[in-house]
Amino acid sequence: MTLLFFSIAKKGIAQTNYIPTKSNLEARHWFEDAKFGLFIHWGVYSILGDGEWVMNNQNIPIDAYEKLPSFFNPIEFNAEEWVKIAKNSGMKYITITTRHHDGFSLFDSKATDYTIVKKTPYGKDVIKDLAKACEKEGIKLFFYYSLLDWHNDDYFPRGKTGNSIAGRKEGDWNAYINFMKAQLTELLTNYGDIAGVWFDGDWDKKDENWHYDEIYELIHSIQPQCLIGNNHHEALKTGEDFQMFERDLPGENKTGFGTSESLIGRLPREVCATINGSWGFNLQDKKHKTKKELVHYLVRASGFGSNLLLNVGPMPNGKIQEEHIYSLSEIGNWLQTNGETIYGTKAGIIAPSKDWVSTQKGKVLYLHLLENKANTFVIPEFKAAIKSAELFANKKKITTKQTKDGLLIEIPKADQNKIDTIIEITLE
Ligand code: GLC
Repeated sequence: MTLLFFSIAKKGIAQTNYIPTKSNLEARHWFEDAKFGLFIHWGVYSILGDGEWVMNNQNIPIDAYEKLPSFFNPIEFNAEEWVKIAKNSGMKYITITTRHHDGFSLFDSKATDYTIVKKTPYGKDVIKDLAKACEKEGIKLFFYYSLLDWHNDDYFPRGKTGNSIAGRKEGDWNAYINFMKAQLTELLTNYGDIAGVWFDGDWDKKDENWHYDEIYELIHSIQPQCLIGNNHHEALKTGEDFQMFERDLPGENKTGFGTSESLIGRLPREVCATINGSWGFNLQDKKHKTKKELVHYLVRASGFGSNLLLNVGPMPNGKIQEEHIYSLSEIGNWLQTNGETIYGTKAGIIAPSKDWVSTQKGKVLYLHLLENKANTFVIPEFKAAIKSAELFANKKKITTKQTKDGLLIEIPKADQNKIDTIIEITLE
């Protein structure tokens, strides 16, 4: 009994007795309907063009890494431009790294000197600009916030990563928790309404007491509507408002740390993915996803009842790579025509498969045929009565037939779309 108590206490159980407010529940509904957001990984690491883990991957000593801020001068950064890119791609929100594992704050903070305002020639709070631009354009803003910190001595005892970085000292864990609370208070006080906080890095110290109870309570006490998510790859903890899945659809596990089916809860879901193969700017990454891959990611996520948070890693000058601006505009074009089958939908009654997913709004079911080589295909175990079926694109009638194997659907090859053939099925 005592043992059990200690092990729970040590893990820093999440916010106790959490009852989400009305504004929080409304925010969750908004979030579920929004379906598509832009993730932005940007920081002094972007200068090195080798991803946001560069400090750990190249074992850059503290004193060497501390030189980076003095080179960070993103004079071409234009918050409005970023927000418009997101908006034109059909995205409804932006989630930006306010502080990543390297411990550098991209916002003005009294809790540390290691910030964009105090340490860079640029000297301006880019998060402030972004918050203003988002507000102007009606795009909601989420803050990514790293729990893990390779720079702060108070991140001690250390975790699994960053242990070969020279120059790290020993410090005080309670001071670190207080530091995070001070920064989160700033983030939730100085930038207007914040749609959510996106925690990351829990996995660095699996048995640590992160004081989530206090941290989550603090966030909800300052902004009750603010949605809390935590990339711990585990079951939801009390106080969290949505569940996130990193580079895997809910229940899938291609990454090796995917959240297994049994750990999926009932809260809104969000899948995050990269537009190429990296989060932070990577000069040599050419694995840009194609239009088809990107649209499929979004459509599949929707078919799993999840949002897609698609990442770009802007360059050190503040610009987003041309290739990525182009890819985003392509998704935007696709959504212009087909957004009705995505926004405001829930996962449809036809279970996702390799070849299709379905989304649904009331009695209208959108079957997204993503891969097909034949003129006919069968949806196994489909028993619901159908009132009508037509192609979403041109309202052309589609022939369907109940068979012993399931619902047979006929679509001549000529009517199929290379990216996504959407069949609108109205149920009785
Ligand atoms: C992982 C990485 C981190 C990245 C995050 C985005 O947790 O450690 O660098 O920010 O994924 O999902």
